[in-house]
Amino acid sequence: MTNVSFDHHSPEYARNWRRINADLRDRCPVAHTDAHDGYWVVSRYADVAEVVRDDATFSSYFELPDGSHHATTIPVSPMRQVPIEMDPPEFFDYRKLLTSRFSPAEAKKWEPFVREATAYCIDSIIESGRGDLILDVASPVPAIFTMALLGLPLDGWQVFSEVTHSLIHSAPETPEYVTAMGNLLTILGQVNEVIARRRVEPTDDLISHLVQAQINGRTLADDRLMEIITLVIFGGVDTTGSLIGNALEWLYRNPEQRELLRTDSDLLPKAIEEFLRYFSPVAGLARTATRSCAISDQKVDAGERVFLSWSSANFDPEAFDDPDEVILDRFPNKHQAFGLGIHRCLGSHFARSEARIVIEEVLRRMPDYVVGDAQPYPSIGVVNGFISLPVTFRPGSPAGSTLRLSLVDEPG
Ligand code: HEM
Repeated sequence: MTNVSFDHHSPEYARNWRRINADLRDRCPVAHTDAHDGYWVVSRYADVAEVVRDDATFSSYFELPDGSHHATTIPVSPMRQVPIEMDPPEFFDYRKLLTSRFSPAEAKKWEPFVREATAYCIDSIIESGRGDLILDVASPVPAIFTMALLGLPLDGWQVFSEVTHSLIHSAPETPEYVTAMGNLLTILGQVNEVIARRRVEPTDDLISHLVQAQINGRTLADDRLMEIITLVIFGGVDTTGSLIGNALEWLYRNPEQRELLRTDSDLLPKAIEEFLRYFSPVAGLARTATRSCAISDQKVDAGERVFLSWSSANFDPEAFDDPDEVILDRFPNKHQAFGLGIHRCLGSHFARSEARIVIEEVLRRMPDYVVGDAQPYPSIGVVNGFISLPVTFRPGSPAGSTLRLSLVDEPG
């Protein structure tokens, strides 16, 4: 039996994703669903790895004869993102442009800035003894960092943080979504202005790097730059915020582990890998079969959509001992939370250092936080996180962050 009732956007999946994934892995590891015009769901670790590594057979951007396209989300997003929605050989030109700006050394260079941004955000709530770990900290820090990385004016960080968060969790047509879409257009307008300025007078930011970059001897058109920049924004902000939010919510419910991490921050890097595995903030992404083929003996036709469930692969008992347990020092931990193969997450070093710094600072400055009415995303779709995470804690003193959020061009 290959036909199942499955929709990764459904509220039921958001509530029970670990159970539903386990059921699929056991019963029907390559299953077909009729949701969203039909797609295959691949849920075992080895099968996901095999598909994702065969980028010739499983495309990240597939044009249909009628000119419409299939990319990496189901349903397809109206905005193309690059290089995630591109195949070799073109893909490699773009990936190469970006790698130097996303290296471990770059992540290290940005750490003092991320720490300042974290201090700034915690300072905004520390004296009151109450706040929201998502809205005041976990969403703003990646937002401020991403703006600084790109070279956008930081004084718009609140709207930027709000837009990147709201567009991920609110359903289309809701007033919240419509407002966020309107604000996104304003932000993209600002991005366009910065692109134009950097073309004339480049600085050291990512947009300057991109406007000067060349492929086959030609600089990139504005539309292409936008496709890259929107990926950095939507790939980097709510994903990282969701990792941090999930980890902090879990640590509240597991006070002994919270105390352990607070007193032994050397454990944090391994713990973050485990949070990446256990929460899989990007639950899954898609490919399109370019030819008739088989995934683990299941025939798949050319043009069919294939959903790679990283969140299921990350709980496969064939790949992890005691997958349902959070083991903070789990090693080795070859999770697929950042994907695998040629499209493996470019921002992983940034995500890791942001998560490490924010979690460390929250545990240091608000060690006794109590979570109130946590609101998980009603639908996962792509990102699995919390809408809000209200907290109370013993008030403290501001750290006196020196970050001036009206500054544009300086990484700290
Ligand atoms: C916890 C945080 C994050 C998670 C879970 C995550 C997850 C992923 C995954 C699963 C992919 C693979 C996509 C595929 O194979 O189709 C990916 C790609 C990508 N991510 Fe991340 N990501 C995170 C943070 C970031 C950050 C902070 C940035 C940038 C600042 C970023 C930028 C990108 C880019 C540019 C790609 C496309 C790479 C390519 O196509 O070659 N991500 N991410």
